[in-house]
Amino acid sequence: MAIQELEMEGRKPAAVFITSPTYHGICSNLSEISQLCHSHGVPLIVDEAHGAHLGFHPRMPNSALQQGADLAVQSTHKVLCSLTQSSMLHMSGNLVDREKICGCLQTLQSTSPSYLLLASLDAARHQLSENPEGIFEEALQMALDAKNTIRGLPGISVLDSQSLPNFPVIDPLRLTIGFGQLSLSGYEADEIMYDDHEIICELVGTSSITFAFNLGTCKEHVERLVSGVKHVRVSSTRGTVAKAEPSVSAPFADFKTSLIPRDAFFASKRRVSIANCVGEVCGELICPYPPGIPVMIPGETITERALDYLLDARRKGAMISGTSDPRLSSILVCKK
Ligand SMILES: Cc1ncc(COP(=O)(O)O)c(C=O)c1O
Repeated sequence: MAIQELEMEGRKPAAVFITSPTYHGICSNLSEISQLCHSHGVPLIVDEAHGAHLGFHPRMPNSALQQGADLAVQSTHKVLCSLTQSSMLHMSGNLVDREKICGCLQTLQSTSPSYLLLASLDAARHQLSENPEGIFEEALQMALDAKNTIRGLPGISVLDSQSLPNFPVIDPLRLTIGFGQLSLSGYEADEIMYDDHEIICELVGTSSITFAFNLGTCKEHVERLVSGVKHVRVSSTRGTVAKAEPSVSAPFADFKTSLIPRDAFFASKRRVSIANCVGEVCGELICPYPPGIPVMIPGETITERALDYLLDARRKGAMISGTSDPRLSSILVCKK
């Protein structure tokens, strides 16, 4: 629809950009999206940071390139075994100008590449090329067993495709556990898991925590995870943890951009107290951690809903990063 709207104004989008899978492993239907993009001559670019392993096993979703994406960028270090910071940019088809991509990369990249990082990427590639299916077999089975056991615990839910009818495919190596029925926030569950079991989760949300299974996962990790989740459940039903208030849902669907990020970045700023900033144009990036996903970026209009979400996250133990005032008693806004 957005493509058609632009076409009616005589304009054409430079590209469609999608994140798939998400941090929780939720995959978009990229085959359909790429066909639609290509029928309008528009390239599809996919942030596949969490999907470098996709397509290497029949039980895994196909990768972005297998589904027709023109460009896919993968954080090889996140899910495969290369060193942190190493990633890959893949290209396919001829809609995107390869020379232009190389030129753009040259303006961004160091002239002194790290051969350690490059060698680790090559090692990861080699590891996969030897036994692409077999290598994931054990991790997939462990993830499946863990999900089935945890799903059976009263009061605990596991994110699966039935709960997301519009997104029927989820990375089988991601496990998101919900504690909402126990009135427990993800932050509280994370604290119990860490303090009592030394379990570090991949991602904490307001009512859930997410784990990534990978080639380094072993049986002992899974047993510890399952007993940690059981312990969280028992602690909460015995009343040894304070019951969380209901979570404010993330305000990602209804944001309004007043300035493009570049103009907002260069605009003069003033500091406004949190009580008076609704309706102002945000001048900084505001990102609760965990989960580390920005809620507002420079140029967005500050809404009551976004503020409620941020204050709720801060109350529940999230750190607010990116802002000049991490206590969030004030925000830098763009001068009008
Ligand atoms: C969806 C998504 N894209 C991109 C990135 C950045 O990847 P990298 O850390 O490899 O720069 C992240 C990091 O977590 C991410 O979650």
